[in-house]
Amino acid sequence: MSGIEINSVLIENRLFKPSAEFTARARIKPDDLAALHKRAEEDYEGFWADLARELIDWQKPFTQTLDESNAPHFKWFSDGEMNVSYNCIDRHLAKHADKTAIIFEGEGGDVRKLTYQQLHDEVCEFANALKAHGIREGDRVVIYMPMVPEAVIAMQACARIGAVQSVVFGGFSAESLRDRIEDAQAVMLITADGGTRGGKIVPLKEAADKALSSGCDCIKNVIVLKRTGHDIAMQEGRDIWWSDAIAGQSNECEPVWVNAEHPLFLLYTSGSTGKPKGIQHASAGYLLNAITTNLWVFDLRDEDIFWCTADVGWITGHTYVAYGPLAAASTIVMYEGAPVIPDGGRFWKMVEEHKVTIFYTAPTAIRALMRLGDDFPNSYDLSSLRLLGTVGEPINPEAWMWYHTVIGKENCPIVDTWWQTETGAHVISPVPGVTATKPGSCTLPLPGMMADVVNEEGESITEANTGGYLVIKKPWPSMLRTVWGDDQRYADTYYPKFGGKYYLAGDSARRDENGYFWIMGRIDDVLNVSGHRLGTMEVESALVAHDAVVEAAVVGRPHEVKGEAIVAFVICKGERPTGEAAEKMAKELRDWVGEQIGPIAKPDDIRFAEGLPKTRSGKIMRRLLRTIAAGEEITSDTSTLENEAVIAQLQGKA
Ligand code: WT7
Repeated sequence: MSGIEINSVLIENRLFKPSAEFTARARIKPDDLAALHKRAEEDYEGFWADLARELIDWQKPFTQTLDESNAPHFKWFSDGEMNVSYNCIDRHLAKHADKTAIIFEGEGGDVRKLTYQQLHDEVCEFANALKAHGIREGDRVVIYMPMVPEAVIAMQACARIGAVQSVVFGGFSAESLRDRIEDAQAVMLITADGGTRGGKIVPLKEAADKALSSGCDCIKNVIVLKRTGHDIAMQEGRDIWWSDAIAGQSNECEPVWVNAEHPLFLLYTSGSTGKPKGIQHASAGYLLNAITTNLWVFDLRDEDIFWCTADVGWITGHTYVAYGPLAAASTIVMYEGAPVIPDGGRFWKMVEEHKVTIFYTAPTAIRALMRLGDDFPNSYDLSSLRLLGTVGEPINPEAWMWYHTVIGKENCPIVDTWWQTETGAHVISPVPGVTATKPGSCTLPLPGMMADVVNEEGESITEANTGGYLVIKKPWPSMLRTVWGDDQRYADTYYPKFGGKYYLAGDSARRDENGYFWIMGRIDDVLNVSGHRLGTMEVESALVAHDAVVEAAVVGRPHEVKGEAIVAFVICKGERPTGEAAEKMAKELRDWVGEQIGPIAKPDDIRFAEGLPKTRSGKIMRRLLRTIAAGEEITSDTSTLENEAVIAQLQGKA
């Protein structure tokens, strides 16, 4: 074993214990955590029922906790009634009306703060505007917005009147937006003239117009926030400016009390096959875990300033921006823009200016900022920080150590949180005042989250460091309820094995000698690019939708900053493009995929060949393609290939 390998093994086993000072102030101390785990083990339903009564304000209390009669479609607290927006805003007003709820900063440096009272008033005005345009309980409303307070206001307004929101990330293309609107059969679209990123305008309204011009007959109205002020087209009778929509609306709007199981939102996410899945979350169960995890994992308290850098277009921006921290009466920071404008110190400057105490971001961002050097973070006062978090993909020990030393000054616990769009909230994570952390491990399941690693038979793997399927053995309150409009796909995707008893996360994992979980990767053909899931199938379908393309295969390759880079192997009609023609075609295809799905899906590398390596039965040999994409030596037998010459072409050697 070389010195480096020994070293990395040592680093992996290094334990970082929370400081006595952190533990002394923490909401959850070692005894509390042990008690929570014990209670969840002994009386699972009672455990969640107590928390639900303690942490949620109910209009009508529930009497039934978990309903398993229609498994794997589970219900929680299903005879109770409540409202998410009421729980995020109204119930805090008596004590916290003047407390800052949102600190917003735009890329250009404009800052806007909203108190809980102001947030209440704006949410009510907008909710009344939605009602005035015919939106009723259960109607789907798509939100396609930049990262501005109005995005949160729109989400909260929908919740207030029982409308089902679906946020589509502003970086998605017109085509992606159209597919989601149609799948959700949304009646209203809320957007902005545009957003700002990297000094450029993101033309949201233009993309929205394009989406609506090629389908989306279900949409009756479009509400448009003026943000950039650039020229856009407004369609008479369909499009309304946000400011006109709220003009004259009352700043009081009685919440619609909905059933605990009422759908709160749909969020589309990639699968290995077919179109994106509309992950449907329910109201009370989702909110409960949004609150418990903000309290347990982020140790959220009254004086905290919490900055989660995720866009509201992702689940992280739902649970740790728009709903969870507000339900816990905290103060959130929102930033619309790129992390490197005007330079790589932007995030750290904002931490100093807004006195951020809890900072939560993705490993891909940490790596990108780490590469810019220590001078940026070292020029700002980061002493307000007391807790750091990461999410989206495994964090490599090097980036972890940088985060720990340069950002946290060895003084902030790091919570590496494993969860998914489908789980709604953290599942496996350190509890910062208790759990000793190891760089790269998400450590241990939270109380009430029955995560395990099992073999093909569904048996728990007890041997240390042996990989298996990551499963969750009992339903939990914030789990997805179904795939919108496709109950069968829900069951097939999440309960396909082990007699339908366990939720299958789709990740492989191992546990070390301390029982700590280490995520090893996805078990299906899903890429993790910059912490976001992309189905290889989706990128392949986009490629073959191009006139020049006959066949395409897409795989991931490890990438220093993004986690995974996308490599596409493409077969064109007619002659195989080479030289300049290949470069031109590659650029065209990259732009094409950007248009079809969005910039994050653009392949980093496109290679043209005369054929793809296939097994005798005609299956594309993906493992071989992954080896080629990684630039590794091929050790498997390729003699069965019909056309061995394509290997050199795929390697870019011919
Ligand atoms: C997938 C879920 C949950 C919000 C962000 C992504 C990977 C997520 C971690 C982590 C290792 C992680 C998994 C998971 N993942 N967090 N801390 N360590 N891997 O949400 O798009 O639903 O993706 O992201 O593979 O299944 P998502």
